[in-house]
Amino acid sequence: MWQVRVSPCGDFDNHPFQSNHFTVEPLSAAMGAEVVGVRLPELSEEGVESLKQALWKHKMIFLRDQHLTHAEHEEFSARLGPFAVDAYTQGVEGHRDVHPIIKEADEVTPSLFGGGWHTDSPFLPEPPSITFLRQVEGPPYGGDTAWANCALAFKHLSKTYQDMLRPLKVWMSARNNIATQAFLRGEALPFGDPDKFAQGMKGTYHPFVRTHPHTGEPSLYICDTYAAGIEGMTTHEAKPIIDWLVQHTTQHAFTCRLRWQPGMVCMWDNAATMHLGPNDYDGFRREMYRTTIAGGVPV
Ligand code: SIN
Repeated sequence: MWQVRVSPCGDFDNHPFQSNHFTVEPLSAAMGAEVVGVRLPELSEEGVESLKQALWKHKMIFLRDQHLTHAEHEEFSARLGPFAVDAYTQGVEGHRDVHPIIKEADEVTPSLFGGGWHTDSPFLPEPPSITFLRQVEGPPYGGDTAWANCALAFKHLSKTYQDMLRPLKVWMSARNNIATQAFLRGEALPFGDPDKFAQGMKGTYHPFVRTHPHTGEPSLYICDTYAAGIEGMTTHEAKPIIDWLVQHTTQHAFTCRLRWQPGMVCMWDNAATMHLGPNDYDGFRREMYRTTIAGGVPV
């Protein structure tokens, strides 16, 4: 029996995806890559297909110096697939699928949008597949985004633990998050408000181990913000499993971290990753915009 925690080894295969349309430079051993040599609006249809393959392989890809307008952001996103419903934010005027994520320099909040480890809107019956985020303005330091590779985390579980998880369903719900936000703002709980629970925010059971719709790769469907139970288990039974899987998945070896620059864009695969944007840049303005692309029912 192991007496100390051993570091994960093997199965790290973030070697660069090969494309005729761009070059790829991996970011960390676990995941993530920079796509170099292309401006997105000029990418051919074949190039977009190749970019999607690069995304499925690296799970997060980013490009510098894109400086997209809202219209370019929206048009390119539409080439990735139909837009998803955004459960939280309203689009900007004239571009309803381009959603602002802005923190002003004088805004101080204990709970930032996207500040905890999560996958996007897993409480929906059909959560978004891809999220596409761009920076217009950012702090001189801080305001990074980090990701964890949930497929790599699954690979590094023992076969016994994998087999235990495979038949289970995880309860993804925004309920605890909404309750915490209300508490921090000193507001009443909004659970009676039908608008707050529109779009299935109340919750959905999904497979704890999901199969990627494009690669067939198995991945943990785990989330520190929204995983709130396991089908057939009491909260007391489920919580230690969820907490341990979050801790396992977000260990340093399975993550990458992006230092943003204005004009940069990035895309991630919600079926195989968690992410967070640390709340660490008070005093500086951060202006981001995101679109989300529809995904099917996780299987
Ligand atoms: C998000 O969770 O979608 C936003 C992450 C970030 O702002 O870095």
